[in-house]
Amino acid sequence: MKSSLLRLWFARVIVLTQLIHGALSWGKEGHYTVCKIAESYFEEETVAAVKRLLPESAQGDLASVCSWPDEIKHHWQWRWTSPLHYVDTPDYRCNYLYCRDCHDTHKHQDRCVTGAIFNYTMQLMSASENSRRIVHYNLTEALMFLSHYIGDVHQPLHVGFLGDEGGNTITVRWYRRKTNLHHVWDNMIIESTLKTYYNKSLPLMIQALQANLTHGWSNDVPSWESCQLNQTACPNSTVVDVFRYASESISLACKYAYRNATPGTTLGDDYFLSRLPVVEKRLAQGGIRLAATLNRIFSSKPKLAGA
Ligand SMILES: *[C@@H]1O[C@H](CO)[C@@H](O)[C@H](O)[C@H]1NC(C)=O
Ligand SMILES: *[C@@H]1O[C@H](CO)[C@@H](O)[C@H](O)[C@H]1NC(C)=O
Ligand SMILES: *[C@@H]1O[C@H](CO)[C@@H](O)[C@H](O)[C@H]1NC(C)=O
Ligand SMILES: *[C@@H]1O[C@H](CO)[C@@H](O)[C@H](O)[C@H]1NC(C)=O
Ligand SMILES: *[C@@H]1O[C@H](CO)[C@@H](O)[C@H](O)[C@H]1NC(C)=O
Ligand SMILES: *[C@@H]1O[C@H](CO)[C@@H](O)[C@H](O)[C@H]1NC(C)=O
Ligand SMILES: [Zn+2]
Repeated sequence: MKSSLLRLWFARVIVLTQLIHGALSWGKEGHYTVCKIAESYFEEETVAAVKRLLPESAQGDLASVCSWPDEIKHHWQWRWTSPLHYVDTPDYRCNYLYCRDCHDTHKHQDRCVTGAIFNYTMQLMSASENSRRIVHYNLTEALMFLSHYIGDVHQPLHVGFLGDEGGNTITVRWYRRKTNLHHVWDNMIIESTLKTYYNKSLPLMIQALQANLTHGWSNDVPSWESCQLNQTACPNSTVVDVFRYASESISLACKYAYRNATPGTTLGDDYFLSRLPVVEKRLAQGGIRLAATLNRIFSSKPKLAGA
């Protein structure tokens, strides 16, 4: 009797832990990494503006509050933010269209990760362009949301299929652990990387990514940063190239995340080693693009469309 109760209790705790974990987006490590990389590309004005906006608890470090939107989204007064972490696309279509896809389950338009990035970019931008205008928004929150959601939109399965909730309902094993595909991409690949290559040290992994940014990827970085005027989805995207980021994510989801990961699969070395470069690149791109976005917002240089 006692032991079966105990087992039930353990089962509950495990289910609860998995629920909580499954709901996170790029785990804490992923968001920290994106923001830490971004910080090293901030222009002087951005450094100052970010310092001014950060809450006391951040102690001047943006990366330390980049998981804040995940921490609050289950509280009832913040529940409206939970659809803003991802966007669902039609099953197997492997493309993303703002007008078709960016809504919550009640079909409220713009309530998805790209809509949110656009929203918070505009809030920060209008405050920064016209400092005399009365600002109705909490710009501290805007900064923390924007930094988090730019990370999220780079996680391929945050732009996944509607039918499986971005991999959340695809149960798989990650080596011996039972989990779901979404969680593999949020957390497990990064965790295994830290264990296998970096002596469990996140700063070491970030250093390695930064080294690649100044060497291996240095030729690609300008193209990651640049706005493409091309992406005219319904809202105006001259300041944010977020529509491109989402399109890349669903492409990668189809090509790498979903491939060979049907329900019940055990994912091991083959999957890990072939997907790791994708995760590394997306973390780095997220960082570069967050920095580019914040630099565009806070720089006093004239803002040429698409520059
Ligand atoms: C835009 O930001 C405001 C302030 O946080 C919020 O009330 C609104 O729901 C947001 N809209 C979207 C689409 O993110
Ligand atoms: C802005 O948002 C932060 C985080 O939610 C909060 O701590 C702070 O009190 C807010 N500021 C104002 C002026 O409401
Ligand atoms: C790995 O990290 C531990 C502390 O976490 C340290 O004692 C050990 O020296 C490190 N090993 C290497 C090879 O750096
Ligand atoms: C750095 O780039 C090399 C070559 O593209 C790649 O093999 C390696 O995995 C990358 N490391 C990181 C941390 O991104
Ligand atoms: C828009 O992008 C597509 C491919 O992404 C390209 O083929 C086309 O030439 C671009 N159009 C313009 C006007 O840049
Ligand atoms: C696009 O944004 C620019 C700059 O914020 C604004 O001047 C323009 O009116 C917007 N266009 C549309 C169609 O919303
Ligand atoms: Zn998130």
